[in-house]
Amino acid sequence: MTELTPAPLSARAMGTPLNRVDGQAKVTGSASYAVEHRLEHPEGALHAWMVQSTVAKGRISDIDASGALAHPGVLSVLHHGNAARLADTEDRELAVLQDDAVGFRGQVVACVVAESPEAAREGAALVSVTYDEEPHRSELTLDTDCYAPDKVNPAYPTDTEEGHVEAALASAAVTVDQTYRTPYEHNNPMEPHATVAVWHDQHDGPRLLLYDSTQSVHSVASTMARVMGIERSRVHVLAPHVGGGFGSKGLPHCHEVVATLAARAHAGRPVKLAMTRQQMFALAGYRTATIQRVRLGADREGRLLATDHSVVEQTSAIKEFAEQTATITRMMYASPARRTRHRLVSLDVAVPSWMRAPGEMPGSVGLEMAMDELAYACGVDPLALRERNDTEVDPDTGKPFNNRRLVDCLHRGAERFGWSGRPAEPRGGVDGDWWVGTGLASSTYPAFVMPGNSATVRALPEGRYAVTIGAVDIGTGAWTVLTQIAADALGCPVEGIELGIGDSTLPAASVAGGSSGTSSWGSAIAAAAQAFRKEHGDEPPPGATTTASPEPSAGRENHAMHSFGAVFAEARVHRYTGEIRVPRLLGVYSVGRVVNPTTARSQLIGGLTMGLGAALLEESYRDVRFGHVVTQDLATYHVAAHADVADVEAEWLDEEDTVASPMGSRGIGEIGIVGTAAAVANATYHATGVRVRELPVTADRFV
Ligand code: MOS
Repeated sequence: MTELTPAPLSARAMGTPLNRVDGQAKVTGSASYAVEHRLEHPEGALHAWMVQSTVAKGRISDIDASGALAHPGVLSVLHHGNAARLADTEDRELAVLQDDAVGFRGQVVACVVAESPEAAREGAALVSVTYDEEPHRSELTLDTDCYAPDKVNPAYPTDTEEGHVEAALASAAVTVDQTYRTPYEHNNPMEPHATVAVWHDQHDGPRLLLYDSTQSVHSVASTMARVMGIERSRVHVLAPHVGGGFGSKGLPHCHEVVATLAARAHAGRPVKLAMTRQQMFALAGYRTATIQRVRLGADREGRLLATDHSVVEQTSAIKEFAEQTATITRMMYASPARRTRHRLVSLDVAVPSWMRAPGEMPGSVGLEMAMDELAYACGVDPLALRERNDTEVDPDTGKPFNNRRLVDCLHRGAERFGWSGRPAEPRGGVDGDWWVGTGLASSTYPAFVMPGNSATVRALPEGRYAVTIGAVDIGTGAWTVLTQIAADALGCPVEGIELGIGDSTLPAASVAGGSSGTSSWGSAIAAAAQAFRKEHGDEPPPGATTTASPEPSAGRENHAMHSFGAVFAEARVHRYTGEIRVPRLLGVYSVGRVVNPTTARSQLIGGLTMGLGAALLEESYRDVRFGHVVTQDLATYHVAAHADVADVEAEWLDEEDTVASPMGSRGIGEIGIVGTAAAVANATYHATGVRVRELPVTADRFV
């Protein structure tokens, strides 16, 4: 079947700034998001509202639903005493309303179903739950017991060691040994997590329909089938438009199960469930806090002899999540001796999950701030230090990098940003009452192509084609770029493509995550188009149909597949108040061919903006007495807003990477956030001479 390996595509539509094909529907409001879907039912939809635990650990001793049930409009209150049993309760995050155990504050303990959202919410406030409370632990410290997980996400070794790290550190002319901390962060996509569920009990068994806000209709369908114990083919998940995810919608969370249990209890009637912004801080995943000790040893010119990156981070006692924080240090720079290590502290807190560049984002904070410290310690320019430690071979796997252009990104960025001529010493720039400095960091992200994708091409009249795959556009532009890829693969204009995505009845597609969507789905579309043309020629009869999957590429397997970038920041710190401003932020990236410059630029400057927010603003504050996050709204959890974002620009090198994918492209969704917080923090050090080793860098930390 090797003939199905798609040949590189010729680019006609690819590379052009096609406007979003779903843009008009979005700006006119006709694009329906999850709970906006209106499903036919004579009595209309029901509304579900989740009741959350007010203790961090313990047992539910009693639930009194009488007050809620007496409230007008309330139809039912589901809890562990009356909800249907799930077929699979192994995933404790999804095993809701099954038993009396409470594993974290904010866990769902009941669900009120009512005729209106207002009645459901009021009913939820009237449910009286009493607990046998047990002592809990919710504080991440270095003094708490920790353990080594079997692997870190998704399947990397927990620890690695190569060479004699201690000996190399002892013999190094210059060393850095510092501890860096990154905070809890919460994904805050514009559209909260939401679902409409309809359960039908039919003569041949149950059937479940979900309109969901998800990054993967296929994974929601298979997870719900497994958890509910029904056949996969009888679960239908639709997500035509999704208002952001950042990873928080990459895997199903408990609300999909709650909505389904409610729908099952009211079979035939659609049930709508939307998380509130506050609920998202307990139920939709988050980035764990990290404590990272980084030790670097180098010769006088800054050539690394040893790197040691040791991370302590947090997981939930009910479900393990192991952020791959130190994996970036395994491949970023040449260093003869290298060690990385991950340890988890298990706490009675909500379950962490994916958030844009899990692993690489927090890991780049520790590594790239330590590299900055090494540069000053050696008296070497931070850019020259990165260049001096560049490597053509991945130190971790020994494989050659497919297309490592880190140094090109650094040089192009330096030229455009105006890096040269900066004061070598910190606190060398003053403008009125502001200290002014610049900083940089390297960036990288793996170039994944996920297995298990396929696509279907069907000929339509008048030379047009229907192209379908169960992919999801979470706001990134997938509707648009997949249309461009399909047009080039079939040799027709973009107007000739009728794309279908966002539906679990369409061919298998991997998650819109890991910056892998365009590469994975595009490879499937390219393979299907090539197989279609081989089978039906260039003038196929309407109705001619072919489904195909891409073959694994030997070129990919023989190389270390990564994208690279360089981020430059200017920071101004007010000498009296400590106020921080970032007037300029620039990222230069090597990401293969850019399929659509408009949507790509949005992705990259979006990542840079999120990195700016991580540098200066984002922090979820946990009250360890009660175990919950108190900053649970956008008034107290600050993200970068327009006034914080001045001049943020992204640029990419002109290139094409046919080893990475038949489109010549790699992923772009996450690399923009990697390194960015370190670049900003490094700029604040250059401005002030004070090294803040904890994010976010706030005025009070310049002490
Ligand atoms: Mo992204 S955190 O891989 O959805």
